[in-house]
Amino acid sequence: MSEIKKKLTDYFRQQGELYPAEYFFDKMPGILRTPSSVSSENPNFISNFQRLDEEAKNCFACDLAQTRTNVVFGDGNPNTNLLFIGEAPGENEDLQGKAFVGRAGKLLDDLLKEIGLNRSHVYIANIVKCRPPANRQPVPAEVNACIHFLLHQIEFIQPRMIICLGLVAAKALLKLDLPLGRMRSQVFTFQGIDAMVTYHPAAILRNINLMEAAREDFKKIKQIYQENSGS
Ligand code: URA
Repeated sequence: MSEIKKKLTDYFRQQGELYPAEYFFDKMPGILRTPSSVSSENPNFISNFQRLDEEAKNCFACDLAQTRTNVVFGDGNPNTNLLFIGEAPGENEDLQGKAFVGRAGKLLDDLLKEIGLNRSHVYIANIVKCRPPANRQPVPAEVNACIHFLLHQIEFIQPRMIICLGLVAAKALLKLDLPLGRMRSQVFTFQGIDAMVTYHPAAILRNINLMEAAREDFKKIKQIYQENSGS
C-alpha cells in the first residue's frame, strides 16, 4: 500500500472511532425520524412510552416475575425507523436492566457499526421483558403474557423496518416457523412494516462460522431499508 493510501486509511479509521456514526459518511440517511406526532420529541409520546415502561416494570403476569432482578424494557432511540427484536434478557441484561449489554450485545454493536450505526440510531427490544431462568427459551405462556408490551412498542415507534434476531423472535412476532437459513434475505411484512430475519448474536457466538452470513444480512438490511425508504 502506498504511503498516502495508508495515511488516508488510518485517517478514516480514526474518524470512524472518534465520532459517532451520524458524523461519519456511512450512515443511513433518514434513519432517525424528524419531529412529528409519533416522535419521541413529542411530550405525549415520551410520557406514553414511559408509562408503558413503568407498566412493564410492575408486571407480574407470568412466573418470570418471581425470578427476575430487573425488567428489561428496551434500549436505544425510540425515535427511529429501525427496530431490532431479540428473544429475552440474559444474565447481564437482568442485572443491569438494559437490553443486549453482554457479549451478544457487544457483537450486535459491532454489526451495527459495520453499517454505520450505533444504539443512538436504532431501538432494541425483546419478545419477553424478563430473563427466563438459566437463559432457557421463553415458553409460549410467557410469550403470550408479554407480547402486548412489544406490540405497543411497535405502535409507538412506528418503525419502517423490523429486524428479528433469531428464530424465537421470528416465530413469536412473524409467526414464521422455517429454518433461519430460509428466512434470511427475504422481506416479510408485519402490520404493513418491512420485516427481516437474521441470526441471533448469541447463535453467532456459539458458531463463529455464521459471522460472515450475519455481516451480509446487515448489509442487505441497510440496502433494503435504503431502497424502500427512498434514501
Ligand atoms: N439476548 C437477547 O435476546 N436479548 C437480550 O437483551 C440479550 C441477549
